[in-house]
Amino acid sequence: MHAGSRSVILVGFMGAGKSSVGRLLARRLGLCFVETDEMITAREGKPIPEIFAERGEVYFRQLEGEVLDLLEDKRGHVLATGGGFPCRPGAMERLKTLGTVIWLAADFGTLYARATRASSRPMLAGRTRGEAAALYEVRKADYRQAHLAMDTTGLGLDAVVNRIVRHLRQRDRARGAVAARAPQTPVVRPADV
Ligand code: S3P
Repeated sequence: MHAGSRSVILVGFMGAGKSSVGRLLARRLGLCFVETDEMITAREGKPIPEIFAERGEVYFRQLEGEVLDLLEDKRGHVLATGGGFPCRPGAMERLKTLGTVIWLAADFGTLYARATRASSRPMLAGRTRGEAAALYEVRKADYRQAHLAMDTTGLGLDAVVNRIVRHLRQRDRARGAVAARAPQTPVVRPADV
């Protein structure tokens, strides 16, 4: 159903549910699912907290830059990005050339509760709750550039995925209607040339 080889790219703060939404969304759309953090982990052969501990954040961000280059080859995928991935200069613009970028938004309290409940996140380890909230505020400027912002506060996984699928279908229908109204490209047969 999803148009051609365009991808669906999920962005958002830690705890937004990008991985779980992405996995289920990919199943619903019949697309492959890829996570930028998984690509980095596979490349380095170690988990993200270890990369941060041994090489630091600057090195991790460089890896994210390399992964961004590789995403050009991942057409027609559902991509879940790390929370800081679209915040590198120019990253959001490039992501938007790959497909539909969706910001999974939520109020900070919801995100923080989810992010601190699950596995250890180096970007939260050395920060107070207030500092993490400030980081979210700064990053919102980047997330806001997504094609679509979806407030997931209070929504379960199925509800979020259903809304995304509905949005993509509506958009594809609208595009189909526009294409149908557009003048047809004339067909040139060999005999006419
Ligand atoms: C990060 C978020 C993490 C991971 C890394 C850095 C960030 O991904 O990429 O720890 O800077 O917000 P999640 O958003 O999946 O937690």
